[in-house]
Amino acid sequence: MALRSMSRFVAEVRALYAALGDPAQVWPAAKAPMAALLKDPKLAALAKDWPVSDHENLLFYEDPDFGFVVNGLIKDPGRKTRIHDHAHVWVLYGVLAGSEEILRYERLDDGSIPDHAEIRESGCQKVAPGAMDIVAPHAIHAEAAGDDGSVAIIMRSEKPGGFNQGRYDPETGRYWESPGVTQIPWPL
Ligand SMILES: [Fe+2]
Repeated sequence: MALRSMSRFVAEVRALYAALGDPAQVWPAAKAPMAALLKDPKLAALAKDWPVSDHENLLFYEDPDFGFVVNGLIKDPGRKTRIHDHAHVWVLYGVLAGSEEILRYERLDDGSIPDHAEIRESGCQKVAPGAMDIVAPHAIHAEAAGDDGSVAIIMRSEKPGGFNQGRYDPETGRYWESPGVTQIPWPL
């Protein structure tokens, strides 16, 4: 990896995995290395050439031992994701450029009715460059890019695509599952 800030980030996360083992402990501890990564002006300069990737993630790195990945997600102005969860995976979301609104939802039913979920919005947070958000397994959320779009660096405990994630439609109460975003290899 040519970009030093990214290789340093990866080395620090690998050290956290070696010391702590469990993503539930690694993720809060990874906020400090992510904060340093988000401050790198070289990364911000590179991001200006990254393509908008509404339905894909750029794949910067996949760890051969611990399985975590580092992704990039570039949204057009005003673009909003569907309401979803990331199944059993831990996610650390960092805003590199632009702005975002992060919406959180709580589930009201007990999940006993197939293909059905009742959810309601439980929080809305506006975030700017440098902001970070940990999304725990099965946490229900959506993100909406601000007027200038957004660029996010995302660390996930497992590469999306090989497992289903939950999807929610609060209007109809429909719940369904489908694979996560496609990965576009993008070495830095
Ligand atoms: Fe998400």
